[in-house]
Amino acid sequence: MHELVTLQANLPEAARSPLVDSDGNGPRVYMRTYGCQMNVSDSQTIESMLADSGYRFCDSPEDADVVLVNTCMIRESAEVRALGQLANLSSLKKGNPGRVIGIMGCVAQAKRKEILDSHPYVDIVVGPDSYRRLPLLLEERFISPPGTPGLLETTLMREELYDDIVPRHHGGVTAFVTIIRGCDKFCSFCVVPRTRGRERSRPLPSILREIEHLVSQGVRDIMLLGQNVDSYRWQGRDFADCLLAVAELPGVVRVRYMTSHPTDISDKLLQVMGSHEKICPYLHLPVQSGNNRILSEMNRPYTRERYLDIISRARRYVPGLALSTDIIVGFPTESEHEFEDTVRLMEEVRYDTAFTFKYSERPLTKAAKLTDDIPEAVKVARLERLIDLQQRIAREQNEKQVGKLTEILIEGPAPKDDMMWSGRTPDFRPVVVPRNGECIGDLIKVRLDALVGFTFVASRQH
Ligand code: SAH
Ligand code: SF4
Ligand code: F3S
Repeated sequence: MHELVTLQANLPEAARSPLVDSDGNGPRVYMRTYGCQMNVSDSQTIESMLADSGYRFCDSPEDADVVLVNTCMIRESAEVRALGQLANLSSLKKGNPGRVIGIMGCVAQAKRKEILDSHPYVDIVVGPDSYRRLPLLLEERFISPPGTPGLLETTLMREELYDDIVPRHHGGVTAFVTIIRGCDKFCSFCVVPRTRGRERSRPLPSILREIEHLVSQGVRDIMLLGQNVDSYRWQGRDFADCLLAVAELPGVVRVRYMTSHPTDISDKLLQVMGSHEKICPYLHLPVQSGNNRILSEMNRPYTRERYLDIISRARRYVPGLALSTDIIVGFPTESEHEFEDTVRLMEEVRYDTAFTFKYSERPLTKAAKLTDDIPEAVKVARLERLIDLQQRIAREQNEKQVGKLTEILIEGPAPKDDMMWSGRTPDFRPVVVPRNGECIGDLIKVRLDALVGFTFVASRQH
């Protein structure tokens, strides 16, 4: 096993915050996280840094000395939720003026000035590339006199990878591992390149070291994360090399990844996926639209035909591949006829899962210059149409699985029945199976006997 570069527990005492008392108890932190897995992973990095500085964590904002909110602004609804949280924080601050309130994540990055100007009770605003500064900012804030203006740290740094920090793992067999940060694709609807800056890949050795550490803590299932994992590049190695290296680590039972961009999917990657049994036959490949004019307006540089060709190649290389996607309806100027192309594409591909969204105009994006001209009622109708269609397809795809022999990785007790285990097939379908002496993290052979809703009921096979 490689040795970890830095294990937080081994950091010198000097790194601890001066706010830690003589019994070793530091201020209590309550953190709430919104948004994608990247934000979840960032919150784990922040927890690790703060724990290392002596901070403790608590489950309620009322008990906390520090309240941190990690925000998302991918759609207006996410931003409204984040700003709604800010309103709640104002009463927390009134209840205890010494409590430090910090806003982090994508809204903090994109709306830094507005947050401080219109929410004077916010003490700290920190963007996704500046979390390393958080312990110092907190210290500074604890000793600033009341009424001092809030502190802002939102420089987007090309080099920041948090590569030497081991994110705090919360137990369980699955862990997220960020391998690439930022995004250079600039899809015209998307705010992420503005909130997370330029694309940069982590060195492969440190990714592998982090995973070895996770395996030593009982993790078996690794989800490699990034806005576009398939753009990964490090010293001549590409994403296929990275995926293979992870799959070959002892103790890793499954590897998955998200998200992929259709322009970066290579035959080499598909070949690697099909050739290694630990790499799950699951591909999340957002299409966004099935119409070529809309794809071009979205700055997605592929056509419907090219996308369908990738799908058929992927299915050829990876037998039994499960597919999921993201789709936006009601992009500016999308006609009924163009929307129908998306419906037909869904029917043609037959995804196992689809995440469907109504277009939401975002600040700082190219599409924000267009008029958001599709009425809300039309967006809702198009969305409902896709949801209904996808539910039917997903049910049919699932029904085809009944009777199949497969393997599941046991994740924990079934939520509604302690006598059953809950796990997933390699293509990520949820399964429950009666408990019979197995342990969490075991990979067991099962037969999928029946389907209840979207969950399979299985029996153990030997
Ligand atoms: N990097 C990933 C996902 C980013 S965000 C990718 O390229 O696919 C997840 C999804 O949110 C996107 O795939 C898109 O479908 C959706 N999304 C992004 N911006 C949006 C917007 N302005 N309105 C509605 N949906 C949006
Ligand atoms: Fe956004 Fe496009 Fe980048 Fe995905 S690839 S994060 S949708 S800009
Ligand atoms: Fe949201 Fe930022 Fe992720 S906008 S989806 S938290 S990258």
